[in-house]
Amino acid sequence: MDVPFTWKPTGWYQIGWSHEFPDGSVKPLRYFGEDLVAYRGEGGELHVLEAHCAHLGAHIGHGGKVVDDCVQCPFHGWQWNADGQNAAIPGQDKPNRSKSLRVWPVMEQHGLVFMWHHPHGDPPAWEMLDIFGCYPDITMPPEAYYSPFPAFTRKDEAEPVHPQIVLENSADSAHFEFVHRATVTPEVLHWSYDEHLWYFIAGWPDTSSDAPDAMRLKIHSKLFGLGGAISAFEGVQRHRVVFSTTPTEHGRSDMFYTIWWPREPGIDVVSDEILARVEREFLTTVDDDLSIWRYQKWIEKPAYSKVDAKGYSTLRKWSQQFYDIPPEA
Ligand code: FES
Ligand SMILES: [Fe+2]
Repeated sequence: MDVPFTWKPTGWYQIGWSHEFPDGSVKPLRYFGEDLVAYRGEGGELHVLEAHCAHLGAHIGHGGKVVDDCVQCPFHGWQWNADGQNAAIPGQDKPNRSKSLRVWPVMEQHGLVFMWHHPHGDPPAWEMLDIFGCYPDITMPPEAYYSPFPAFTRKDEAEPVHPQIVLENSADSAHFEFVHRATVTPEVLHWSYDEHLWYFIAGWPDTSSDAPDAMRLKIHSKLFGLGGAISAFEGVQRHRVVFSTTPTEHGRSDMFYTIWWPREPGIDVVSDEILARVEREFLTTVDDDLSIWRYQKWIEKPAYSKVDAKGYSTLRKWSQQFYDIPPEA
């Protein structure tokens, strides 16, 4: 999709799940049009550096090795530390202090890996939201859910979808009936924003109740910039979802989906029944959306549906703060 925004937006973006980066592993990645190398050093911390060795340009992600807290290039064995500095050169008593690799800040949280991206390499300007801590009033702790890995995760690679499109979907109550076959259309109950965070609540009315504002189910969503949303359900369902979109190249993004499903009393291991239900009802909702997003065209001045107009247009203005560079030609 052609959009009037850069595919190199600023913010925190998911680049995978922690279990994909075991101790001592070195892995090539490609995000924001850049070749990257991820490695888990001896201290157990995950690091991401630019991939091409500053000696003679080998891609360290293909064949590199972890040595202490450094990653060693497969070509001539130069070692790079977590700060991107050259730490050792075989056969020389001193490293080359003038050579370094760009460091990409990463943080792990509840099994998800997020990377900070700024097009000019500026350091993180704000903290990533806490997946569980960001809903102090919906107090189920992580242990109250089944581990999402790997059964309740899903990744769609290199989709032609810009994060802006996914973001706008969260302000769009009118698509549920058509795209997601909802029998009751949700109402937007609240939206607000605070710097890099957008918060909205939608609710599905309880049609069996006489009270007009009784809700069967509510979804709370907090958007961490353009990178994705942390959602918590309240009511007849109580699961939690992180849905993220991370540009890989100009015109393409990877999409990550992680569901925390509440443990059922007496059932320690996820049953086939729960698995099938989550797969059928939740992991596949992204297919519904993708069947629209893949072929959608950007409309600069949409005719908003009445219910969504204010939130939608405000969300578009709010999202401008993450575009620090003009769109690529
Ligand atoms: S290219 Fe990496 S050590 Fe030579
Ligand atoms: Fe949707």
